[in-house]
Amino acid sequence: MKTTAGLRKMKENKEKITMMTAYDAPSAKLVEQAGMDMILVGDSLGMVVLGYDSTIPVTTEDMLLHARAVRRGARDTFIVVDFPFLSYQTDRTEAFRYAQRVMQETGANAVKLEGAGEVVIQLVEQLTAAGVPVMGHLGLTPQSVEVLGGYRVQGKSREAAEQLLADAKALEAAGAFALVVECVPEPVGALLSETCQVPIIGIGAGVHTDGQVLVYHDVLGYGDVHVPKFVKRYATLSPVIEDALKMYVHEVKEGIFPGEEHRFTMKEEELAALYG
Ligand code: KIV
Ligand code: NA
Repeated sequence: MKTTAGLRKMKENKEKITMMTAYDAPSAKLVEQAGMDMILVGDSLGMVVLGYDSTIPVTTEDMLLHARAVRRGARDTFIVVDFPFLSYQTDRTEAFRYAQRVMQETGANAVKLEGAGEVVIQLVEQLTAAGVPVMGHLGLTPQSVEVLGGYRVQGKSREAAEQLLADAKALEAAGAFALVVECVPEPVGALLSETCQVPIIGIGAGVHTDGQVLVYHDVLGYGDVHVPKFVKRYATLSPVIEDALKMYVHEVKEGIFPGEEHRFTMKEEELAALYG
């Protein structure tokens, strides 16, 4: 299993870091078998698994339930679990309690939170000091979609790019072990990776970041959630599943399934006795 130090070493050695989301045991198992360096139990589960329009309705209980399932499916992979919407900005005790539950009840290795405001920076410092590895998340931060005014590219102006750089440095200084940077121009992703000592894991941030992360369902073409430009689909599972399910409906209706090989028999004499 990777460690925070091991991930830093990968950056130093210019070895790309791979990360993908997973939300349940079978997806986690497949992600682990593929040799992924890290798994993210993202609050994107609200959209791709729970059917919400955004990540905002996701609760701490949702996150903990899915994180436990992911750990059961992937025993040997470094797992990061998102803080859900507004669970860390208002009350330090609540944030600590959540981090404690993630670490103790799910067996995950780290937590992730969005933004770099004063409260967030202080929390990263305090959690790190208390022994909880924290990953930051900058650029397009989906929990702020209502403030940002939609899912759009961030850091496009000089000022915005400089702010991102300052935020990244602040998170690093506070002890964050790595940062996700989402939906920024490629040169900004490159600049952040050059400037920071900690690994920058990009999503829609170009090819020069220290690693890449994508959403499991997006990569596999599974589900009907809108897929952004920065996603590459490596498979198209939905039509495969749809065909299989339609075939099942057809075969049950027509009496084709269950076939001979799916049925149980009983001894002739038992059958005769049964009918008297
Ligand atoms: O929730 C999530 O899947 C994420 C990734 C997009 C980085 O935060
Ligand atoms: Na997230």
